[in-house]
Amino acid sequence: DWTMSNVIEDQVAAIRARVGDKRVLCALSGGVDSSVAAALVHRAVGDQLTCVFVDHGLLRAGEAEQVEKDYVTATGINLKVVDARDRFLTALAGQTDPETKRKIIGREFIRVFEAAAREVDAIAPIEFLVQGTLYPDVVESGGGTGTANIKSHHNVGGLPDDLQFTLVEPLRNLFKDEVRRIGLELGLPEAMVWRHPFPGPGLGIRIIGEVTAERLEILRAADAIARAELAAAGLDRSVWQFPVVLLADVRSVGVAGDGRTYGHPVVLRPVSSEDAMTADWSRLPYELLAKISTRITNEVPEVNRVALDVTSKPPGTIEWE
Ligand code: XMP
Repeated sequence: DWTMSNVIEDQVAAIRARVGDKRVLCALSGGVDSSVAAALVHRAVGDQLTCVFVDHGLLRAGEAEQVEKDYVTATGINLKVVDARDRFLTALAGQTDPETKRKIIGREFIRVFEAAAREVDAIAPIEFLVQGTLYPDVVESGGGTGTANIKSHHNVGGLPDDLQFTLVEPLRNLFKDEVRRIGLELGLPEAMVWRHPFPGPGLGIRIIGEVTAERLEILRAADAIARAELAAAGLDRSVWQFPVVLLADVRSVGVAGDGRTYGHPVVLRPVSSEDAMTADWSRLPYELLAKISTRITNEVPEVNRVALDVTSKPPGTIEWE
């Protein structure tokens, strides 16, 4: 629409003025904010931008392909994909404590991204780093309008001193709904633009217990069914987030055909929220819940029970870890 076209034009001009002929790096996560921020910068400076996508193997079904194929096709962005799936699994082996799992995933991400950034920087020096910071993030961190911040050098997210970049934050004045409209205007895949918020540690904190390749496959299969049915019911845009959680260390007895099963439960955690600070459990239609339950237990052999989380936040958090 007219307003968003203007915002895009203004931002493109501002990015061009700021970046000049220097090179720019961006870490894509598959989330809305980094995808739209990178697409804006690409519109402004084209191939001066290189994006890095660290595939940590903790995304949901189809999400890595969405970044590697659909997003690249839609934008023409120059993307470097790092397949770090084995590395993350090795680092997470034997770990069950939620905060330890988070720390490991964060630490490995920085190490892998740093190595990729060094490779890109070695070809031709990088000056700028794109971040998908939104207006609410700025307010939350007390950044005000941030002119001084934008101009200073930042040591971003744990990168070493010799690898520092100046930040480009083209979404700094925008709210989420505006970012989505810009994403659509820029022709990004709808599935990306409308993606629910998703935690950085991904499915790693939705498997209660140790993260293994097999457990990830089970959770991805159950999660894909829940998301597909939510979308088919036309409710994916009215639900804030819909985590599916695998209780990997819990087993319960069930029955299938003439035999007993001894499988894992998954928990459905659909929530409504404005900002994730508080949340309520979504009153999804029983028909939809029944369909999700039937499909998961029919199609995912390791899962023989589906439970619904009816806890608000507080006292529960949105995620289980
Ligand atoms: P909780 O579970 O605390 O989550 O109610 C609030 C919001 O934050 C997301 N979340 C995370 N995001 N790294 C992230 O980037 C994390 O470690 C993390 N933990 C929770 C969660 O999905 C929800 O949107």
